Amino acid sequence: MDAKALWQRYQDWLYFHEGLGLYLDVSRMRFDDAFVETLQPKFDKAFADMAELEKGAIANPDENRMVGHYWLRNPDLAPTPELTQEIVQTLEQIEAFAEKVQTGAIHPPRANRFTDIISIGIGGSALGPEFVAEALAPDFPPLKIHFIDNTDPAGIDRILNHLRNNLASTLVVVISKSGGTPEPRNGMIEVKKAYAGQNLDFAQYAVAITSTGSNLDKVAQSEGWLARFPMYDWVGGRTSEMSAVGLVPAALQGIDVRAMLEGAKEMDDATRIANIKNNPAALLALSWYYAGKGKGEKDMVVLPYKDSLLLFSRYLQQLVMESLGKEQDLDGNTVYQGIAVYGNKGSTDQHAYVQQLREGVPNFFATLIEVLEDRQGPSPEIDPGVTSGDYLSGFLQGTRKALYENQRDSITVTIPQVNARTVGALIALYERTVGFYASLVNINAYHQPGVEAGKKAAAAILDLQTKVIGVLQAEKTPLSLEEIANKAGAAEEVESIYKILRHLSANQRGVILQGNLGQPSSLKVSLS
Ligand code: PA5
Repeated sequence: MDAKALWQRYQDWLYFHEGLGLYLDVSRMRFDDAFVETLQPKFDKAFADMAELEKGAIANPDENRMVGHYWLRNPDLAPTPELTQEIVQTLEQIEAFAEKVQTGAIHPPRANRFTDIISIGIGGSALGPEFVAEALAPDFPPLKIHFIDNTDPAGIDRILNHLRNNLASTLVVVISKSGGTPEPRNGMIEVKKAYAGQNLDFAQYAVAITSTGSNLDKVAQSEGWLARFPMYDWVGGRTSEMSAVGLVPAALQGIDVRAMLEGAKEMDDATRIANIKNNPAALLALSWYYAGKGKGEKDMVVLPYKDSLLLFSRYLQQLVMESLGKEQDLDGNTVYQGIAVYGNKGSTDQHAYVQQLREGVPNFFATLIEVLEDRQGPSPEIDPGVTSGDYLSGFLQGTRKALYENQRDSITVTIPQVNARTVGALIALYERTVGFYASLVNINAYHQPGVEAGKKAAAAILDLQTKVIGVLQAEKTPLSLEEIANKAGAAEEVESIYKILRHLSANQRGVILQGNLGQPSSLKVSLS
């Protein structure tokens, strides 16, 4: 296509949302009108599915749940007046709580103000708050947030060491929808011990965000924690940023949560339009389908040209891959669906993997996120008439052009600036796109059987560890790995047992390995 035809294609396919000042450019995805027409019936179904979902249909059949994250930013859409009221009241409670914490009306026993937050959660209970904190927290927030989003002891130590002198003014927000996920549970127990170590009454520092009646909720209630906020059954982890999961940490950091909700609502209104060309989420879903032939054959590379949006790709990685990465479709056929997502930021990545994108294996399509405003206030000139922001903008344009010229497709999303409204809108845009794409390929985007399977597999290893230690405690003489496995009734698990014992030995847990470490079958194992 020559430059004139491309310019025409750009204008023909350009989507612009006036209220948000958001542009979506899919002109560098090389689909044609015939392709769009073939997808029309699938889109008619996707629009109808989405309308049903928003009315409160059981859109997550496996878990027999409604899917209601859209109601969070427009409570009037909730299927019952009780739900509407609950959403409105929770938001008011969150704002009131944040204000009291910030003004010191709620303060820790030994200080006038809370200064810091430790947020403990994982997956959908961490990635949204992390992305939003990075994108929107002011440079000097009223409370500075720190995340424990893993069960890595060294990672936990790093946060606790960093906050050692501030623990007496640090609020702990524990986020877990199920209230039983091991990683946040472990984080909470370790943090609790750190508070006890400084003679601080943890309950007076702790806030729970969880499903009513979960284990975490029961603990928080019985110990009299500072506050509890509900995580609704009808909101999934990865779409929970606009629930208490995202709003409590955001509000505490001084982020305008009403503006974030408003931006999301405006985008929801725009993505409700049942017309592909006038609906930005439909245009994105169409582009994704085109790129990977509806089978995820191409990876999605997300490149925001703005440091504060660094975590957007990580956030989208979960939203897309946990939602779309499914073995079976809704009819029980084996389909192995999904789209791989990765990325960091431009132009930084142009000095890393963009080399491969431009010239190497063409197994991807790119999404470039452009922010029109370089910074607040004027920029100094780097060269005559040229600023750093001009360079950033030039690098984005150059990458888009070079990719296209080498038959590599790209999408460009442009926002006027990074603020609470545009971030809310971006989240809503991608949530809806994932919903549409799931309908196009006929899968349930709202369950995560693979995540559950991972939790069970880890639990099985920990059970085995308990049995192995029991065997060693009962024995006086060193045993081979096979002997331990047989005595533990786990003859098939020698390799797992070896790895358990190697880990315990490396952590001074009383396990002694004798023999050649490079030849595991030569090892004899005993307890010290
Ligand atoms: O998106 C999801 O559903 C998951 O990533 C969950 O958020 C994650 O497993 C954490 O679960 P929970 O909030 O129950 O601790």
